Amino acid sequence: MTKQDRVLIFDTTLRDGEQSPGATMSHNEKLEIAGMLDEMGVDIIEAGFPIASEGDFKAVSEIASNTKNAQVCGLSRAIYKDIDRCWEAVKGGVNPRIHTFIGTSPQHRAIPNLSMDEMIDRIHDTVSHARNLCPNVQWSPMDATRTEEDYLCRTVETAIKAGASTINIPDTVGYTAPSESADIIRMLLERVPGADQVIFATHCHNDLGMATANALAAITGGARQIECTINGLGERAGNTALEEVVMALRVRNDIMPFKTMVDSTKLMNISRRVATVSGFQVQYNKAIVGKNAFAHESGIHQDGMLKSADTFEIMRPEDIGLSETNLVMGKHSGRAALRSKLKDLGYDLGDNQLKDVFVRFKALADRKKEVYDDDLLALVSDEGTNAANDTIQIKSLEVICGTEGPQTASLVLIIDKDEHKHKAIGDGPVDAVFKAIQALFPHQAQLQLYQVHAVTEGTDAQATVSVRMEENGKIVTGQSADTDTVVASAKAYVNALNKLLVRREKNAPT
Ligand code: KIV
Ligand code: ZN
Repeated sequence: MTKQDRVLIFDTTLRDGEQSPGATMSHNEKLEIAGMLDEMGVDIIEAGFPIASEGDFKAVSEIASNTKNAQVCGLSRAIYKDIDRCWEAVKGGVNPRIHTFIGTSPQHRAIPNLSMDEMIDRIHDTVSHARNLCPNVQWSPMDATRTEEDYLCRTVETAIKAGASTINIPDTVGYTAPSESADIIRMLLERVPGADQVIFATHCHNDLGMATANALAAITGGARQIECTINGLGERAGNTALEEVVMALRVRNDIMPFKTMVDSTKLMNISRRVATVSGFQVQYNKAIVGKNAFAHESGIHQDGMLKSADTFEIMRPEDIGLSETNLVMGKHSGRAALRSKLKDLGYDLGDNQLKDVFVRFKALADRKKEVYDDDLLALVSDEGTNAANDTIQIKSLEVICGTEGPQTASLVLIIDKDEHKHKAIGDGPVDAVFKAIQALFPHQAQLQLYQVHAVTEGTDAQATVSVRMEENGKIVTGQSADTDTVVASAKAYVNALNKLLVRREKNAPT
């Protein structure tokens, strides 16, 4: 394989993706996602922004030392102490990478209040500093696509001379169209001395819905690294979706003859896992990993599909790791069958964890006739909620609702090992439950989002509930699943509060 036909996949789910308000992941969740990304074959994992917090630093350094194949990268501003901290975090990894950036467009230049010449000096000094620490340095002119062409060329030339081996061209505000995305890379390759010695990367945001098209166009213009996130997670409308570029390069290899090393059969599992831990559900009609991406409901489509799958399918469900039938088990299924099914779904559980999930699986199978893959995934994801070491736990909940009202919730919470009871009236059962929780555990956090999804079809389906809360600029998302929507709502709310308490502890002055 030559340099010309290989495209590097740089995943930034744990950095740019996690930057999306409310998508905060726990330390263990980050480690788990990084492990899945490595196993799937991404080339570079951007694991976080080490200077941003102790938590980010710890996550990046642990991911760097645990990752077997991928390069692990950390982000840093064009500031020496950021770069030093970043190096401290990544240096234990295989082929670690420092990624440093500065905003070069007129809009972004105003922020550090540097003249154009002063910024050139800053780029030279900070990239040289990073290069003295680490042989693998990536540099990004933030908002490159709105930077004046001549100036962009000067900045890129400076970074290359100072030792950057990857030049990333971010479309920070998602403004660019595909033809421009290709042209900008082509222009840099033609005009900048030394450009043929480095790899150009493309980093697109989806504000106008063009992130995937822009990333692929940049490849045709000469870029050889795509920066992307699972499910397109990211601030505002998100980033280029990894699953979309990987599958587009595979399915349309006839016109885009480039290869990635990503094992596409792992896409579905990682997509589900990222949706769960980030609290950002995948829209049903999302390309590749949406629930409807392979569903053929209209009569004409079904008829065509029965005659020949390629009538309407340009890829097979198995290509992304979707099994043909996902009806799994019922109450007579045993522990070995559960273990093997969970393994297929990407979960290799230890004996104790399996024991616990098995008990909960049996309880679910008693309530629900058919247990599907998605039910099992919801069950495993719910593992961590109402855990024994949480400060706030639900002991019992009873709700009265119906046409006569008033809707009433009688709730018993264990808070710091003490039992507290309250009965609240609300505008509907969920409102009553939330009011009871607020009365038992008074707090100032604002509810930003309350979302319910049915995991499968049928009135006995489990509901997954996401509750997003904000306190002093810190956003957390709590989640839970249950066949009883009101119970799932209570558990999700309490899960969010427990996460907030952890965040408070982390941010408390020592
Ligand atoms: O969108 C952007 O410009 C970024 C940079 C920090 C690379 O995420
Ligand atoms: Zn970005």
